Amino acid sequence: MDGILSDTTLGIDFGTSNSAMAVRQGAGPARLLRVEGEATTVPTALFFNAEDQRTHFGRDAIAHYLAGTEGRLMRSLKSLLGSSLLQDQTAVHHRMVSYQDIISLFLQMLARTARESLGGMPDRVVMGRPVHFVDGDAARDRQAEASLRQAALDAGFAHVSFQPEPIAAALDYEQRIGAEALVLVVDIGGGTSDFTVVRLGPGRAARADRGTDILATTGVHVGGTDFDRRLSLELLMPLLGLHHQGPTGREVPSRVFFDLSTWHLIQWLYAPKAVREAQALRSDYADVRLHDRLMAVLQQRLGHRMADAIERAKIAASLQDAAAAMDLGWIEPGLGAVVAPEGLERHLAGLLDQVVACAQECLGNAGLAAGALQAIYLTGGSSALRPLRQALRQAFPDTPQIEGDLFGGVASGLAVSA
Ligand SMILES: Nc1ncnc2c1ncn2[C@@H]1O[C@H](COP(=O)(O)OP(=O)(O)OP(=O)(O)O)[C@@H](O)[C@H]1O
Ligand SMILES: [Mg+2]
Repeated sequence: MDGILSDTTLGIDFGTSNSAMAVRQGAGPARLLRVEGEATTVPTALFFNAEDQRTHFGRDAIAHYLAGTEGRLMRSLKSLLGSSLLQDQTAVHHRMVSYQDIISLFLQMLARTARESLGGMPDRVVMGRPVHFVDGDAARDRQAEASLRQAALDAGFAHVSFQPEPIAAALDYEQRIGAEALVLVVDIGGGTSDFTVVRLGPGRAARADRGTDILATTGVHVGGTDFDRRLSLELLMPLLGLHHQGPTGREVPSRVFFDLSTWHLIQWLYAPKAVREAQALRSDYADVRLHDRLMAVLQQRLGHRMADAIERAKIAASLQDAAAAMDLGWIEPGLGAVVAPEGLERHLAGLLDQVVACAQECLGNAGLAAGALQAIYLTGGSSALRPLRQALRQAFPDTPQIEGDLFGGVASGLAVSA
């Protein structure tokens, strides 16, 4: 029987897009755990295989979905924390479960992985949380944390405490610096953008109370999935009828396109009632070929595949600083679209303004001018987005940007935060 590992901390970064875990024994260094094969991150995704009733996680889940296996894919589950949808029941392997239960299933996989890899369960578990699960609603925010705690307890974790994700990212960075510095830590993930102004230094890590070193934290509910949604609305949904004018000159009602661009809402569109409603939109189209595409996407359940295509094209256009083409021949032969660097900049400008404003608010709350910072420390997958880096460079022209471990930093920081 596996026991409890004493004086050991497990850090769990349950992310909107990716999750990671790190372990620390005593005052030693944090070490990332392998969570899917050799990889130290696992996509926060589940696939319920309808053919053999098995549940798949991570890359394996996405691969089954993209291979066309009959079943249901779930992603972006963290975005449901704090919303009323969390307690909605849905059918999984012929049983009704809540979305909170599905989050718990994913955490159960993490608990099993940790136990197998460590030979027992650490006696302390620190989970990350965004600065705000829900913007501007303290009661729903508390509810979101309580739901995540319950999901973790149901999954078999005990002694769970929470730490804001950007503070964890800062603590990870602190392990590697040689001199004291005032740093703006920027964590831009799939669901949220979080900021912390913090005083870091080699001698400070051991102090019991770090409260006075954390000068301010801010967060806004904007992240990579919002970038994907915006790009989808600009570049993909018009192909299915968004902004299309019908015979009377009226635009096709837009609701279905917003849902189809939002990872955690896509699955609701496949319900018979939603499909009937979409079918009824046909008379709103002047060019029914566009409606045929919409119906092909709903009937063949291609929504997540579209979301996946736009996310890949976003990353490719940003990494290569060149146009990335999407082949959408699986919707209609010959159909395609392109994400260009200029399009990234233009379509995402409004969202990037919100992110930069949140960074500036953090500095303002800390009572600092931009020149007072020694560094901007970047973590989270979306912090790699080229126009985002440019926007931060414009807002803080004199501050060097330092890139951290984009996907593992928060988990490592959580493990050293206890
Ligand atoms: N090179 C890249 N350029 C731009 N975006 C990227 C890049 N690589 C990954 N992303 C985006 O980063 C996001 C995932 O980042 P990350 O794993 O840090 O998020 P998360 O921790 O799961 O989310 P959160 O912290 O908000 O809960 C995705 O939206 C993905 O599209
Ligand atoms: Mg994150």
